[in-house]
Amino acid sequence: MPQLSELLNGEIAASLKGRDFLALVDFTPEEIRWLIDFAIELKRLHKAGEPFQPLKGKTLGMIFEKSSTRTRVSFEVGMYQLGGYALFLSRNDLQLGRGETIADTARTMSRYLDGIMIRTYAHRTVIELARAATIPVINGLTDYAHPCQALADYQTILEHKGRLEGLKIAYIGDGNNMVHSLLVGAAKLGLHMSIASPEGYEPDPELIRQMQETCGETGASIRVVRDPREAIEDADVVYTDVWASMGFEAEQEKRRIAFANYQVNEDLVRYAKPDFVFMHCLPAKRGEEVSAGVIDGDHSIVFDQAENRLHAQKAIMAAIMS
Ligand code: CP
Ligand code: NVA
Repeated sequence: MPQLSELLNGEIAASLKGRDFLALVDFTPEEIRWLIDFAIELKRLHKAGEPFQPLKGKTLGMIFEKSSTRTRVSFEVGMYQLGGYALFLSRNDLQLGRGETIADTARTMSRYLDGIMIRTYAHRTVIELARAATIPVINGLTDYAHPCQALADYQTILEHKGRLEGLKIAYIGDGNNMVHSLLVGAAKLGLHMSIASPEGYEPDPELIRQMQETCGETGASIRVVRDPREAIEDADVVYTDVWASMGFEAEQEKRRIAFANYQVNEDLVRYAKPDFVFMHCLPAKRGEEVSAGVIDGDHSIVFDQAENRLHAQKAIMAAIMS
């Protein structure tokens, strides 16, 4: 694994300074791999008790329009560990909640802060915020993408499997924000991804089409099937997420019916490789998208994923805000 000085002195470190982190599509495979290596190095330093504080005197504003446990805590703690300060800003406490525009919010915040993290509904809100802001903007989840989680997840897979290229990842369930970011990561990092979703809940076909060219360059592949058993066959990684994401609560009942055959349980994981790992971004609903036996079982690495949010986001913040 590359050491800190080697990582910081390269061309990629220079190319990331001042950039936004809105979606993995905006980054080259080499940049994504660099961020993962940087995250692993920052994790090592932290566990060794060696401080790394490139963001002394800098402040991150964190706008939350949706709930959060992992994202809020890991960004706040990450900023503290990097020597900076993080401000929690809920929509209801901001003038945004009373109709101030996202562009005016961005312009104002750019006068005080050094970076903004936002969790919101429409993906275009993040794009609009980034366009109007003069400081880096980080996407902490939209209805369309969850790139911080996917970065932490590929770090986690690399740590557990020792490689990324050529691995098979199966995603069972809703074609949501999580699968969009995971599939872009798979295409860029050379994994084979199979996605099983019920009719009407498939991931964005335009994004998959766009990623096919990348797959051609990296040796990755992405396919969407209907049958969870077909998707999970020989998988190294089995991933699922909630059937009704934040903002879709009203569809809960309808979705429970549509997804009834898409639970990751003991019967289904028998078709994965014997040493498969089970992943979930959390929060999870035991008895819906995953059985308690699987998520609480020996193959589950869900809390390693949760921990790596801290290290992966420290890598993002240190790279773009330094
Ligand atoms: N995985 C994730 O983003 O969790 P939170 O919603 O708790 O932030
Ligand atoms: N797909 C889920 C992820 C939560 C971290 C949601 O958007 O609610």
